[in-house]
Amino acid sequence: MDRSTFNIGHAELLQWVKEMADWCEPGTVHWCNGSKEEYQQLCNRLVDKGTFVPLDASKRPNSFACFSDPSDVARVEDKTFICSRTKEDAGPTNNWMEPAAMKKILKELTRGCMRGRVMYVIPYCMGPLDSPFSKIGIEITDSEYVVVSMHIMTRVGQKVLEQLGSNGTYCKGFHTVGAPLEAGKEDVTWPCNPSVKYIVHYPEENTIVSYGSGYGGNALLGKKCLALRLASTMAKEEGWLAEHMLILGIENPAGKKIYAAAAFPSACGKTNFSMLIPPAEMKGWKVTTVGDDIAWIRKDQQGNLYAINPEYGLFGVAPGTNQATNPNAMSALSANTIFTNVALTTDGDVWWEGLTKEEPDGLLNWRGLPHDKNSGEPAAHPNARFTAPLSQCTSLDPDWENSKGFPISAFIFGGRRSATVPLVYQAFNWNFGVYMASTMGSETTAAAFGKQGVVRRDPFAMLPFCGYHIADYFNHWLQFGRDLANPPRIFGVNWFRKNEQGEFMWPGFSQNMRILQWIFERVQGHLSAVESPIGWMPHYDDINWHGLDFDRHQFYELISVDREPWKKELLEHEELFIKLYDRLPKEFFFMKELLLSSLWRSPLNWMAPGELMAS
Ligand code: OXD
Ligand code: MN
Repeated sequence: MDRSTFNIGHAELLQWVKEMADWCEPGTVHWCNGSKEEYQQLCNRLVDKGTFVPLDASKRPNSFACFSDPSDVARVEDKTFICSRTKEDAGPTNNWMEPAAMKKILKELTRGCMRGRVMYVIPYCMGPLDSPFSKIGIEITDSEYVVVSMHIMTRVGQKVLEQLGSNGTYCKGFHTVGAPLEAGKEDVTWPCNPSVKYIVHYPEENTIVSYGSGYGGNALLGKKCLALRLASTMAKEEGWLAEHMLILGIENPAGKKIYAAAAFPSACGKTNFSMLIPPAEMKGWKVTTVGDDIAWIRKDQQGNLYAINPEYGLFGVAPGTNQATNPNAMSALSANTIFTNVALTTDGDVWWEGLTKEEPDGLLNWRGLPHDKNSGEPAAHPNARFTAPLSQCTSLDPDWENSKGFPISAFIFGGRRSATVPLVYQAFNWNFGVYMASTMGSETTAAAFGKQGVVRRDPFAMLPFCGYHIADYFNHWLQFGRDLANPPRIFGVNWFRKNEQGEFMWPGFSQNMRILQWIFERVQGHLSAVESPIGWMPHYDDINWHGLDFDRHQFYELISVDREPWKKELLEHEELFIKLYDRLPKEFFFMKELLLSSLWRSPLNWMAPGELMAS
């Protein structure tokens, strides 16, 4: 066992690692120290194995491309389990199996599963090492790809073990690609188990077991598994929030700065929003990035909320990212980046759909084949990813590693909705905000679910990530709001509404800054708003239109709350409620009734009387 450079005083940890090594039978065990040298050595090893293709050093220094097995390209929600003691604790939205039954299956699968491979032990910390918010995990894995990715995505190494001491608590994470190399067997460039995959969480034991996949959220156990599924359960027990939220700072021209946390389901431009660059005409406004995916939020003694980003890197979707949509992300991935399932150019760089208007000639697609432009198939996989250090992001908040966290003044919830949901509205109060977030939905994209345009309810964007009964999670949010000194204001946004011609009505991207400005002003209590049936909304004149030609009429169309679609919307909320009936907060039934009855007010009563007529 190679742990000569370590002084590991944690007897229980050593015992666990020994037991796992005895069971999985790796050739060797390597304790990761998190050093640059270790990272380089493992990258070299991946190059030697053919897993990593080094990119042209002058174009993308110290960067690599790799290509997964076609069976292993995304999170596997149908193979993701919450094995709490009882099925009710996991709730109807999670897959569940009795813990002992699941352990039996996994035990059989993992016997000798690391033969011919190295077992890596990765001590990592989610959150800054000196932060009281942070949590330590140990991930055992037989994948070098996972080790180098964890180096980027988390804080790894000896310091973590020092922090853990001789009896600290930690999350046990076991990961195997499920592809032992029996004597004489040749390795493949992306080992995995093409037919059997399990991503299993035991919330009562603070333990994760991941079998058969080498990809992203299935295999980098700090991210979705620890920082969301297990952390959400801890957060409920311990009185805090673990959320699928980006964190950003908003600064006005006078230098006043607030922070907001925002939740969007996958495929809604969350990374872009977290790195937004205000339009040139909004001089003096600035957005800084603290995180693009996960927020851990706690109350201080005065009842104010503080959030940290537990991650250290970006694991972003590449297709659609370019100099226009997200120049800050582009700078983040200009070096020291791992690209997975992108296409390769003839000059040693990477490409994906949307990177440039013109597709270059001679691409090798993500499956390693010459790309046929007329095939109708994309060259990069739609879920192709970049793994890049957050520290390379040009919009990064200068104080991003602050261990106390950032004061949160606003929560923003958004989905992809081509109809019904207005551009922006502010919930009447905390409880209505919790209702709004609990019932939020997003239209599926073909890339993620095969079927396009169906509204999938995704409460708080947490549906695949809540480690316990989602209705208990709603109750936790309601309870959490009860003793806040100055509860953050809660907003709903929808950048994706379409007109009758099927065109997007809102330009989005940097123009979303106009909406952030309204949110900023509302949080300060500066601006008036119109009371609509579902929440507070801006008057046309409350939005800063400087430099954007967007007329009054278009705007009111974009924020309209129409009776018939909203009746349908509320009926759909009811469908969700029936599923969760026994644990659903009773407040929700009353709030739904209130919303329904408000819809019977004439639209002109709330839409800035006179303004529509004037236009
Ligand atoms: C992600 C996701 O990869 O939410 O962050 O799917
Ligand atoms: Mn996410």
